[in-house]
Amino acid sequence: MILQGKDLLLGVTGGIAAYKAVELLRLLKKTGANIHVIMTDSAQEFVGKTTFEVLSENPVLSDLFFDTHSSVKHIDLATGADAAVIAPATANTIAKLAHGIADDALSTTLLAVTSPVMICPSMNTDMYQNIRVQRNLDILEQDGCHILDPDSGALACKTVGTGRLPEPWFILDRICSMLTKKDLDGKNILISAGPTVEAIDPVRFVSNHSSGKMGYAIARACEKRGAKVMLVSGPVNIDPPVNVDCIHVETCDEMADQMLANLDSADIIIKVAAVADYKPLDPKKSKIKKKDSKKDISISMTENPDILKRIGKKKTNKQFLVGFAAETDDLEKNALIKMKKKNLDMIAANIVGAKDSGFKADTNKVKLFIKDGSSVDIPLMEKEKVADILIDTIIEQLSAKENRCNL
Ligand SMILES: Cc1cc2nc3c(=O)[nH]c(=O)nc-3n(C[C@H](O)[C@H](O)[C@H](O)COP(=O)(O)O)c2cc1C
Repeated sequence: MILQGKDLLLGVTGGIAAYKAVELLRLLKKTGANIHVIMTDSAQEFVGKTTFEVLSENPVLSDLFFDTHSSVKHIDLATGADAAVIAPATANTIAKLAHGIADDALSTTLLAVTSPVMICPSMNTDMYQNIRVQRNLDILEQDGCHILDPDSGALACKTVGTGRLPEPWFILDRICSMLTKKDLDGKNILISAGPTVEAIDPVRFVSNHSSGKMGYAIARACEKRGAKVMLVSGPVNIDPPVNVDCIHVETCDEMADQMLANLDSADIIIKVAAVADYKPLDPKKSKIKKKDSKKDISISMTENPDILKRIGKKKTNKQFLVGFAAETDDLEKNALIKMKKKNLDMIAANIVGAKDSGFKADTNKVKLFIKDGSSVDIPLMEKEKVADILIDTIIEQLSAKENRCNL
């Protein structure tokens, strides 16, 4: 969402990982960004210019002195850029950028870029660890460039170590983060997500359809906006968000323990998890066998701890507590009762059961009810966008609270 309509420069230099820049370009294009690729001569030894021209739908700049009579192309590109990314960045280009050398199209353009710059070093481990390369990276970092640490793993030079270019999806994620306003800087946020699973016997359980998508979208958005995020997650099929401390739990009891253990340091608590209200009273140690003589069986259930209520009781005046209400009927009435009963500052109510909203879906339709009596309608949209509006609302509420305190 953040990259839509943005003008980005993608610098590609002569490393073996130049092929990954093709996939990065494809992902960037999908976001709706306009990409201008600048290649060094060495980069073209690894991947052809045509590939980047076709995929970016823009001419690739590689020769500073070619076709310059109509405009000063490198300055136009630098001035119009919302951000620049160099992936992969060779030791050579890193050295040139660190010392202000401008002897090709990429290094010259980069000197004129005033928007955020991300540099993704990729090289053999010994090269990467070389004191001169490290010194150059330090210089660039001190100058305000964002340095994306390389991954560890098998390298093309048949060694194993640090120096691999991170995967394109990860670079994209970090570009989005680089361009996101850090309006949650300094905030600690505790989030719960996903379902809980309550054992009936060693092979069966009671759970629900929560996919964790909404909670994970909120965790990702909070991290990008500068917060330190702790995510307590039930079992889901989603990769842990980048830069987020993720604690995996199964049962409501485990989730309660983790949420309460991490409560004191949290400024904002967002409880998105769909926690089982009841659990089997007497989970069996051995598998319950089918008996031909019994047509019906019943399982006695007992109440689980009410995590939200406990947090609501414990929370201090400085903490902001958000709950989610997943309802099939009487959305508003039930949400308002829950907000009051559990001492919440805000509740996000969503109707579950529809295909395009609630559990499992990538989209959601939510109404936020706030303690002061106001509400915000969020029409059907991607869960990522819902997450951003929810966070905007929390930030508005927190600053209103601060203003009241300062009066
Ligand atoms: C097969 C091959 C692979 C290379 N891979 C890398 C690499 O991954 N990282 C790097 O910094 N240099 C690598 N180099 C060296 C650079 O291509 C060389 O330093 C070049 O001058 C970089 O130019 P540029 O920064 O203008 O693209 C490689 C060279 C060869 C021949």
